Parts: sequence; C-alpha cells; structure tokens
Amino acid sequence: MDGNSELYKDLDRVLLTREEIAGKVRELGETITRDYQGKAPVLVCILKGASIFFADLIREIDLPMTLDFMAISSYGSATKTSGVVRILKDLDKDVVGKDVIIVEDIVDSGVTLSYLKKILAQRGAKSLKVAALLDKPARRKVPDLQVDYRCFDIPDAFVVGYGLDYDQKYRNLPDIGVLSPRIYEE
Ligand code: IMP
Ligand code: MG
Repeated sequence: MDGNSELYKDLDRVLLTREEIAGKVRELGETITRDYQGKAPVLVCILKGASIFFADLIREIDLPMTLDFMAISSYGSATKTSGVVRILKDLDKDVVGKDVIIVEDIVDSGVTLSYLKKILAQRGAKSLKVAALLDKPARRKVPDLQVDYRCFDIPDAFVVGYGLDYDQKYRNLPDIGVLSPRIYEE
C-alpha cells in the first residue's frame, strides 16, 4: 500500500514512516535480546492494536520465547479511555515464575497499562516489563507508571496505522499518521 491509497486521505500527515518504525523495532529487539540473555521470556501481545508491532518485534529478538495473547477493552469514546478496563480474552497459560514482557501499541493516560501490570504482577510473574511502540507523555494520568521500553514519544494527537485504529479502521496502514480531526468530529 502506498501513500496514494484512500486510507491516507483521512490523515492530516504521516507521523512515522514504515522505515522509521522498522529501524526502531530492530533496535528494541536487540536491546531486549541483550537484557534477557539466559532467559526465555513470555511475550504478551495486547490485542488488537499491538498485533503488527508484536509480529515485527518478536522476529527481532534472538532468544527462546513463548507467546501469549490478551484482549482488553476500555470503555469510553472512540478517542478517549474511560478508565474502566475489562478482559475480553485472557492469557492461555499462567505466568507464575515467568519473565513477562507486555507488548502494547500506545500508552496514553496509562490507565490500561497500569491495570494490566497490576493483574499480571498479582498472578506471580517473576519479572514484568512493558514494551510500548508509542508513548504520549503529555497525556499521562498515572504519574508513576514505568514504561520500560518504548520506540517513540509522540505529541498529543490521535494516531492510526501499524495496528492502531479509529473505530476499528486504519489498522492496516503500513505507516503511522495523525488522523484528521474531521473524521472523528463528523
Ligand atoms: P490509555 O489507557 O489511556 O493509556 O489508553 C491506551 C489505549 O488507548 C491504547 O492501547 C489504544 O488502544 C488506545 N489509544 C490511545 N491513544 C490512541 C491513539 O492515538 N490512536 C489509537 N488508539 C489510541
Ligand atoms: Mg485501540
């Protein structure tokens, strides 16, 4: 897909190109490979937004690992989280004694991630870290939330593509772009 596709017409601008993303994802894979030498972590993909990032990241990590998937929903409008988080699909295997890395698409208020970290820690993970593709630090509401690994800090704008959606659309855009406000203000 190139920048002339219909989907790109709903963007104000491309914020991160597929090449920029691939470069950062490769670096992050190398960092995680170094940090987890001698370990076999469980990589947890938070569906659906992290799915593309997850697929790329795990192939840049040179370690034995297992994968698991979790789907959650946070109630609220299409562009804002309400703070209420619900598990739609839970992990297949328990994480007791495991080195867990949560893979998230984006940290905004931080409500979703702080909830996830709390429940996975309660379940007895040996270690728990977070890898997020994007972070919007200006919007944080959970002040002491630690995001261990991140690829990009971005400004306070609603972005789509590379897995991120608006109303379930745009996940298949290969680049990440700022959605034109006219789309969600209509
Ligand atoms: P938080 O709980 O406010 O940190 O929100 C995190 C979740 O909101 C992410 O996992 C996304 O699903 C969604 N989200 C936040 N900002 C954006 C955005 O700019 N584009 C698409 N989804 C977003
Ligand atoms: Mg989402």
